[in-house]
Amino acid sequence: RTMMAPRVLFLLLQLCSLQVLLVSMTTRCHLTKHLVLSTYRHLEQLGEPFPLHCRSYNQNIYFPDDVVPAAQANRSQCQQVLRVLLESLQEAEPIFMENEFPDGEGRVNWDANKLEGFLIHQNRVLEEGQCVIDSSGVFSSYFRNVTTLIEQQDPCGWEILRRDLSWVLKTNLKRHYRCFK
Ligand SMILES: *[C@@H]1O[C@H](CO)[C@@H](O)[C@H](O)[C@H]1NC(C)=O
Ligand SMILES: *[C@@H]1O[C@H](CO)[C@@H](O)[C@H](O)[C@H]1NC(C)=O
Repeated sequence: RTMMAPRVLFLLLQLCSLQVLLVSMTTRCHLTKHLVLSTYRHLEQLGEPFPLHCRSYNQNIYFPDDVVPAAQANRSQCQQVLRVLLESLQEAEPIFMENEFPDGEGRVNWDANKLEGFLIHQNRVLEEGQCVIDSSGVFSSYFRNVTTLIEQQDPCGWEILRRDLSWVLKTNLKRHYRCFK
C-alpha cells in the first residue's frame, strides 16, 4: 500500500507533462528557413526597388522595428522573433485580399505571377507557424496608417507595405537565423 503513493504521483506527473507538451505544441511557433527565404524572394522580385518619391511618407508611417530583437536572440526570445514575423504577415494578408491595385498613372507595376507566388507563400508561412497568434497590438497603428493610404488609392501605400514586410522577413532571417528550423 505504501508503494501506491509514489506510483500515483508518478502517473500524475506524467499526465502533467503530457498536458504541458500538448499546450506547447499548439502555442509554440515553428518556421523553416527555406520557406521564409522563399517568401522574402518573391516579395523582392515583385518589382522595382522602393520608389524614391515614396520616401516622403517616412515620417508619417514607420514600421515599429524595435520589436525585432537587436542582437542574436536566445532561445526564449526566438518565440518573439517568430511571432513578430507571423503577426506582421497575418495583419498584411487581409490588406492584399480586400484591396484592388490602383489603375492609371503611377500605378503599382508588380509582376502578377510573383505576387500570386508571394500570397501563396505568405499563406504557407502562416500555416507552418503552427501557433495561435493573438494580436499583440504592436503593429496596429502601422497597419492602420498603411491601410488608409492604400484605401486612398495611393501606390506608395503598397510600396511601403512591401518594403516593410521585406525588411521584417530579411532582418529576422539574417539576425536570428538560429530561431528557424
Ligand atoms: C500613424 O499616423 C498617425 C497620424 O498621422 C501618427 O500619429 C502615428 O505616429 C502613425 N503611426 C505609425 C506607426 O506610423
Ligand atoms: C535571453 O535574453 C534576454 C535579453 O538579453 C534576457 O533577459 C534573458 O534572461 C535571456 N534568457 C535566457 C534563457 O538566456
